Amino acid sequence: MNQQLDFRILCDPKVESVLNRLYYEANKQRWKLIFYYLPKLPGLFMGKGIQWSRTKTEFFSDKYIPIERDQGQLIYLLARSINAKTIVEFGTSYGISTIYLATAVRDNGGGLVIGTEIVPEKIVQARKNVTEAGLAEFVEILEGDALNTLKDLNYTIDMVLIDGWVNLALDVLQILDSHIRKGGIVLSDNVGTFKEDFRVYAEYLQNQANGYRSATLDLKGGTELSVKVR
Ligand SMILES: C[S@@+](CC[C@H](N)C(=O)[O-])C[C@H]1O[C@@H](n2cnc3c(N)ncnc32)[C@H](O)[C@@H]1O
Repeated sequence: MNQQLDFRILCDPKVESVLNRLYYEANKQRWKLIFYYLPKLPGLFMGKGIQWSRTKTEFFSDKYIPIERDQGQLIYLLARSINAKTIVEFGTSYGISTIYLATAVRDNGGGLVIGTEIVPEKIVQARKNVTEAGLAEFVEILEGDALNTLKDLNYTIDMVLIDGWVNLALDVLQILDSHIRKGGIVLSDNVGTFKEDFRVYAEYLQNQANGYRSATLDLKGGTELSVKVR
């Protein structure tokens, strides 16, 4: 992916150098991920959902599985375009997406990115990474199951990134729904890759009765971009 482009968009060498390090580390895990997904590919190609195993959480407990750089650029630009001050993220992992979002919030004049992560070791590292990027004051990472930690959130939300496990995506969105302002944006990763698993979720966003206009972008094989219109 084009690092030069990232640099020009984010205009912050410190942020960029942390992102470069994290993407380098994430990239080192790619073979483990390929071997993990290999047996699931026939099911995916045949339009079946992934049969997630019980060992899934264990396998992913030290995996970055971040958004890609072009998705990072998109969320940065979208957050700038709507002057997002409050952003909620389902699935922080080691903080790559958090760093893009927090850079946007900082550049918008300040605000808060509320991250969520269930793996304690990832939370420790994500906080270190965000701090190294100089963005700590713009980030709070809620520890534990997002279904619990987001329940009592009392903010008006400008933007949401859905990037946690697919089976929880709709529940998380529905917890946040009434807090998302008109004109707010929901960006959802992996909607194309795990199409069947995300079917009900995508249908919810694409059903205009639920208050969104939504399109699946051809980005990382399918990224859902949804705007709250009422
Ligand atoms: C795809 S990764 C997130 C990647 C991150 N957004 C990035 O771009 O670097 C998904 C993360 O969601 C976390 N997660 C899964 N279920 C969760 C839950 N119920 N509550 C909070 N975090 C959860 C996983 O531990 C994992 O780190």
